[in-house]
Amino acid sequence: MNMHDSEVMAGILENIGYVAAENKEQADVLLINTCCVRETAENKIFGLMGKLRKLKYEKPSLIIGIGGCMTQQEKVAEKIKTRFPFIDLIYGTENYHRLAELLKTAQGSQKTVLELSHQINPVIEGLPIKRASGFRAWVVVTYGCNNYCTYCIVPYVRRSERSRQPAHIILEVKDLVAHGYREITLLGQNVNSYGKDLEQPLDFAGLLAEVNKISGLDRIRFITSHPRDFNKRLIETISSCEKICEHIHLPVQAGSNHILKKMNRGYTREHFINLVESIRQSIPGVSITTDIMIGFPGESDKDFQDTLDLIEKIRFDSAFTFIYSQRRGTPAATMEGQLPDYVKSERIKVLIDIQNKISKEINLQEVGKKRWLLVEGTSKTNKKLLSGRTRSNKTVIFPGPHFLNGKIVEVEITEGKLTHLAGKWLDNYY
Ligand code: 5AD
Ligand code: SF4
Repeated sequence: MNMHDSEVMAGILENIGYVAAENKEQADVLLINTCCVRETAENKIFGLMGKLRKLKYEKPSLIIGIGGCMTQQEKVAEKIKTRFPFIDLIYGTENYHRLAELLKTAQGSQKTVLELSHQINPVIEGLPIKRASGFRAWVVVTYGCNNYCTYCIVPYVRRSERSRQPAHIILEVKDLVAHGYREITLLGQNVNSYGKDLEQPLDFAGLLAEVNKISGLDRIRFITSHPRDFNKRLIETISSCEKICEHIHLPVQAGSNHILKKMNRGYTREHFINLVESIRQSIPGVSITTDIMIGFPGESDKDFQDTLDLIEKIRFDSAFTFIYSQRRGTPAATMEGQLPDYVKSERIKVLIDIQNKISKEINLQEVGKKRWLLVEGTSKTNKKLLSGRTRSNKTVIFPGPHFLNGKIVEVEITEGKLTHLAGKWLDNYY
């Protein structure tokens, strides 16, 4: 969602005549888009601002703005204003549609301009957008979140859930297809609750079925799904719509019922296991990835073992693993039983080792299979190789001519590594 927001901010800047600078030294305006989901993300931003101080003193005409989730927290915004007075503009998650005006005000002001919205905006349509890719695009379906998982700050900074009108979503996708886009990813903190607030209700399965009808579109993805709201109708829709890719990101967070309850996740480990079983039965070849957190307050050795046991049972294709981070204002931040750092670091190591072993084993099973990839560009580590993604969201690198960029190509998988696969192009593409 943050990356998508950055694309909108870049679009707004382009709309008022700015072009992308080669580097930060050449820039006239620098905007930092922040995340506050974990403390490490916030610390990085504080570190970065220390460095930007020098740049500002060398070039006083430079405008530095900082926005996003982190600055939406009033106390943090005030802290930035006092500690880094050279920052020209501070704005929140609900203010970036006003970026053009805010920049103008900041340019004419000696003081830091601070704008945080205290009310929740209705969905704002029609903002300009400068997308990073010419063939894959993010399309927002819901803003905000109503779930209030007890560890999570998102509902406080992104506010309550609002669904976009289906007609606006369909129009955006059609327009993308007309401009050569082949894959779209529908975005929301919890896509499964899409539509609950619409006057003429349409659920997420219904929306997917509508998007699937758009001719010229090749692939549909969506993030993020909530295990509590992932119903049978949705599984059937994914299984019957040919454009919907066989990949589901389904954050489990923990494998212990005691912890899941304290997290307010609204499901049990048994529910999760049954859900994965139904998904796998109905959608052949589906890959399932997850988010897992360790070190939630009160997590005992037994709770942690339950999480390890669950990941061994489910065998996720891959997982984002997190150390619980105390977020001010969330219920978990003041719960008893906060764990010391050394326990958390030991547990995360064990978890990562087990998950890595599973991911590698699953990737090795891909060797010899034929897969269709959407080519996304050159490999990050070796510019001579191309990189693409299977429908199951696995990255494959392979040697091939550069005109394949943006094409859907067939490869045979030759190697299975921990984070990606290697392949051989089979001369087919469209
Ligand atoms: N500490 C650690 N991880 C968190 N996440 C959300 N809040 C926290 C927190 N306080 C993780 C969850 C979520 C992912 C996007 O970030 O696993 O799914
Ligand atoms: Fe945070 Fe839970 Fe909402 Fe995800 S579903 S954004 S973890 S509150």
